[in-house]
Amino acid sequence: MPIIGLGTFRSASEDAYNAVIAAIKAGYRHIDTAAIYGNEESVGKGIKDSGIDRSELFVTTKVWNTEQGYEKTIKAFNESLAKLGLEYIDLYLIHWFKGYESALSTYKALEELYHQGKIKAIGVSNFNIHHLQYLLDNVEVKPMVNQVETHVFLQNHFLNDFCKANGIQLEAYAPLTSKAVDELLENETLKNIAKKHNKSVVQVNLRWFVERGIVVIPKSITPKRIQDNFNIFDFSLDTEDMSEIRKLNRGKKFFPEFDNVDY
Ligand SMILES: NC(=O)c1ccc[n+]([C@@H]2O[C@H](COP(=O)([O-])OP(=O)(O)OC[C@H]3O[C@@H](n4cnc5c(N)ncnc54)[C@H](OP(=O)(O)O)[C@@H]3O)[C@@H](O)[C@H]2O)c1
Repeated sequence: MPIIGLGTFRSASEDAYNAVIAAIKAGYRHIDTAAIYGNEESVGKGIKDSGIDRSELFVTTKVWNTEQGYEKTIKAFNESLAKLGLEYIDLYLIHWFKGYESALSTYKALEELYHQGKIKAIGVSNFNIHHLQYLLDNVEVKPMVNQVETHVFLQNHFLNDFCKANGIQLEAYAPLTSKAVDELLENETLKNIAKKHNKSVVQVNLRWFVERGIVVIPKSITPKRIQDNFNIFDFSLDTEDMSEIRKLNRGKKFFPEFDNVDY
């Protein structure tokens, strides 16, 4: 699984298409979408028109909350596959935790599709430790990925440790704090570290995930930013940088609590 991918939440059709083309041109080989984003067709078209062989790409999509349950998930998966115009999905996720029973029956569908080879890896999103533990106790194929909100203000150290101990890859969404990105850009600690490495605040941010071994999927529809966000492999953060950034953690969530989702 490539450590950095392109996010596509709130990327409307044409923007999503152009962003996928720009990202693949810039070197990204990993694209994150979801049925609810309403852009799977554009993402699929971008992938097709990029000229890159399908086998080189890692594509994630997700089953939406209203489609949970065994039968509905199989149907939703096939619809996503058709919209994306692909033969298989690299990673298919349960988008949100919506109760234990629903998670289990949905997950059974993911296992079935995994056994059929239509999904290469299966996992979840917005699951906390207790949700993950329930699946680990009750399923045959362990979840391979947990995609959750993670950024410098919500660092998820406990969750990451739990995931690591159980062979689950943590994947960070909203790595730039999503709609609060302007606040992030003004952070003094990050500005100082960026200056020290002659990099941007966003690049320092994204590198911080790489240092922690967390997969990261920044979203942008701006070609220059898409390029810059990928340009994080020619420097590294030292112990002092990491400990300064660790101090920024304040458990600040911009998305709902996993046990309290009303959609
Ligand atoms: N599983 C889930 O429930 C869930 C929830 C949320 C998100 N996600 C996934 O995670 C991805 C990332 O999260 P997100 O889209 O919420 O937010 P994000 O990646 O944290 O932030 C996106 C914002 O940052 C801006 N930005 C990007 N690069 C920048 C740069 N170099 N300089 C300045 N601003 C920059 C973007 O603007 P422009 O686009 O205008 O350039 C956009 O406004 C999503 O797209 C989606 O794929 C998953």
